[in-house]
Amino acid sequence: MSSERIEALLQRALEELHAATTQDALTEWHARYLGRRGDVTALLRQLGTLPPEERPAFGRAANALKEELQRAYEQREREIRELELAARIASEAVDVTLPGRVPPIGTLHPVTQMIREVTDIFAHLGFQVVEGPEVEYGYYAFDALNIPPEHPARDVWDTIFIESDQKEIVLRPHTSPMQIRVMQRRQPPIRVVVPGRCYRYEAVDATHEWHFHQIEGLAVDEHITMADLKGTLAEFARQLFGRERRVRFRCDFFPFVEPGVDFAIDCMFCRGEGCRVCGNSGWIEILGAGMVHPQVLRNVGYDPERYSGWAFGMGVERLVMLKYGVPDIRYFYQGDLRFLQQFDRIPV
Ligand code: PHE
Repeated sequence: MSSERIEALLQRALEELHAATTQDALTEWHARYLGRRGDVTALLRQLGTLPPEERPAFGRAANALKEELQRAYEQREREIRELELAARIASEAVDVTLPGRVPPIGTLHPVTQMIREVTDIFAHLGFQVVEGPEVEYGYYAFDALNIPPEHPARDVWDTIFIESDQKEIVLRPHTSPMQIRVMQRRQPPIRVVVPGRCYRYEAVDATHEWHFHQIEGLAVDEHITMADLKGTLAEFARQLFGRERRVRFRCDFFPFVEPGVDFAIDCMFCRGEGCRVCGNSGWIEILGAGMVHPQVLRNVGYDPERYSGWAFGMGVERLVMLKYGVPDIRYFYQGDLRFLQQFDRIPV
């Protein structure tokens, strides 16, 4: 075994070592040269086959080769570890200067936004927000509200019935049953607003839905008069539709109030001139209201000689339609994002 061959083996091994760029390739290289069946080990084994006088020189050369390769191997291993770490750092790097990704979140439904806006206004006027059941007894929806079974007014709310055999159970056609529930539970003074879903057996068109929302209001105390009703509703309408609004109260009929009124504001689109929105009248009716009927007070055990009150009920979809010029009530419940997203930027 000549020293040229040792030299040649060294050169080949070093070349291959530098060609190795991964831990796996390095391990393979180690097995090929320095492992139990490796070339260098085989070389050292040949020692015994040599004539004794050649053995010391050959042994030294072979050992020197082994040590050099071992050193080179260790250095290469460090290099590869650094290379692999650098590659990993580069591939996993996070560019912290990139703008963040905004997760898509929904927007509040325009009806929800309007409920919040209206209840906020009343909250600042001293009213508490309460809610009640959507499935309601006929007693609360009609009888206690002074609408007897045979009364023609009972047809005004074309009601969806759940059960009528034993006890009359309905999907509430208005939020007024909560007047009764609140008065039964509490004693005056009472000032509440009640937002909630209502249902009617209705032919659906641009201004009627079988499912919609109302906000009820009720104030009961000693010495409550029609002036309180007028002042509170005028202030509410001006906060919602603009301070310059003029208001109009006209007689109307609801069995649970006396007197009953229809409350209107001057049309904010034409300022009372007359246009398509207000049907050329210059006025827009926004709610029904009135002084709580003495019989209703008696029905909940209140003394009408001592207590009086006023109540109102309004349609929430209608308010949104008026405020934002929505032409068709059916848009609210079709789930069309092109419609709903237009209410994206309205502050809540
Ligand atoms: N409940 C009536 C309706 O649905 C509205 C109303 C409420 C009227 C309270 C007067 C007082 O039309």
